[in-house]
Amino acid sequence: MGLHLAYGPGDEQEGIAAIRRAHELGVTFFDTAELYGWGENEKAVGRAVAGFRDEIVIATKFGFTRDFGFDSRPDHIREVVENSLRYLGVDTIDVLYQHRVDPTVPIEDVAGTVKEFIDAGKVRYFGLSEAGPSTIRQAHAVQPVSVLQTEYSLFERDVEQLLPVLDELGIGFVPYSPLGRGFLTGAAKPADQYTEGDMRRTDPRWQPGNYEKNLDAVRRLTALAESKGATVSQLALAWLLTRGEHIVPIPGTRSVRRVEENTGAADVKLTDADLAAIDEILPDGGFGERYAGGRTPTWI
Ligand SMILES: NC(=O)c1ccc[n+]([C@@H]2O[C@H](COP(=O)([O-])OP(=O)(O)OC[C@H]3O[C@@H](n4cnc5c(N)ncnc54)[C@H](OP(=O)(O)O)[C@@H]3O)[C@@H](O)[C@H]2O)c1
Repeated sequence: MGLHLAYGPGDEQEGIAAIRRAHELGVTFFDTAELYGWGENEKAVGRAVAGFRDEIVIATKFGFTRDFGFDSRPDHIREVVENSLRYLGVDTIDVLYQHRVDPTVPIEDVAGTVKEFIDAGKVRYFGLSEAGPSTIRQAHAVQPVSVLQTEYSLFERDVEQLLPVLDELGIGFVPYSPLGRGFLTGAAKPADQYTEGDMRRTDPRWQPGNYEKNLDAVRRLTALAESKGATVSQLALAWLLTRGEHIVPIPGTRSVRRVEENTGAADVKLTDADLAAIDEILPDGGFGERYAGGRTPTWI
């Protein structure tokens, strides 16, 4: 996502190199969306993975409009999915997510439309993003939902309340922004130091009052990570990996070096004492809302 949205301009060649390095290091799950550059990100991902497409899982998403409204009407889904197949240069999308629940379209119609693509062999699995229990259940009754994607990290733990429904229905979970949009890496800087167009300029966790408290928590997590020979990014990802076998985080980076660092998280083992120390530092997640301007999704 960061190559084309949210975090200022990215270098496409470096982004493609990062994806290829991730594959070399054993990463098999790559996430994109129509929203990320209206086809540009899907094209870049498609180019990056062309040489090993059959060894990996590609996920993409539909459901936004260009002014960041929602549109999951069946005809719109059909148009977006055909575009995604073309932009990615693939015959099949492995995981197709509804990016946001569209309150104006019954979820049964959305699930039914995705089912058409699954029956035609153009999509393998159905996912939802930022959906709540009743939407998940209603969708699942029409077309089994394989995975839910929602923000989850040491900074954002509200979603834990949804995990029992997923366990009950046998649905996997993909934590997005697992590094707290980069705050949980030690690389956070004051909001006004990000470039124009970088969402962290207005992100509540970067605003005065929250920023200092979040910085302090990350300093303490960094000390814990260093005592284990790890980086704080690795600690944040390793923590997510302890949350369940069916939980698969998708850290984002445009940098080869950071891909190398982040994949190292798989080798970081957290003890019960480490987990207790982490809970003491951040018992309820970070400080500040998830999104600015009241845009935090409500789970319906
Ligand atoms: N379903 C949804 O609504 C939704 C919403 C948001 C995101 N997502 C998905 O989740 C993915 C990850 O989320 P995200 O990108 O928002 O947040 P993230 O993974 O929590 O953090 C990404 C940020 O951290 C920086 N970073 C990554 N590794 C680092 C390291 N080791 N050291 C220092 N900085 C590091 C990246 O910068 P550089 O790129 O410059 O390295 C980028 O600014 C996205 O790519 C997207 O596919 C989905």
